Amino acid sequence: MIDRKEALSLLKEHIKEDNLVHHCLESEAVLRGLAARLDRDEELWGVTGLLHDLDYSTMAGEARHGLDTVDMLGDRLPEEALAAIRRHAFEMNGAEAPETEFDFALRCGETVTGLVHAGALVRPTKIDGMKVKSLKKKMKDKAFAASVNRDCIRECDKIGLELGEFLQIAIDSITAIAPEVGLSQE
Ligand SMILES: [Fe+2]
Repeated sequence: MIDRKEALSLLKEHIKEDNLVHHCLESEAVLRGLAARLDRDEELWGVTGLLHDLDYSTMAGEARHGLDTVDMLGDRLPEEALAAIRRHAFEMNGAEAPETEFDFALRCGETVTGLVHAGALVRPTKIDGMKVKSLKKKMKDKAFAASVNRDCIRECDKIGLELGEFLQIAIDSITAIAPEVGLSQE
């Protein structure tokens, strides 16, 4: 399997936009947090989170999202990770629907980053001190970060996590990398 260092340089080779790199780093952090909580393979889940959108800048249309990433990765990730990457975008690419714990973890984990990031940007202290309660409020406000799919976030119940605990893991995981993703206080 590709190691973290190689994965990061592969990501930076294919993704040039800062906001997308940040999204991938945040997805990695959340997937590591979820793997730790669920006693799964942190390295596998983390690197998969880091690489899940590798094709985002180069894909030929939404229908290729996830499929191109799998082609680009070849055998550098195990099949269960490639399946999770295909399935995270199954509504766009026509792949099979998510079914494993890993599939659902990638979907809810990568999606929640959008809510946490947008929520942090409107706070004076950015992510520092962010609370689950306020994030839950933002989740109910459909106009806030409207492109973030709330149903996908709620899929955390498929990995056995109640929404509050899931959001706390996301906040804690992203807080730990805040300076790398533009979310630390100036
Ligand atoms: Fe993503």
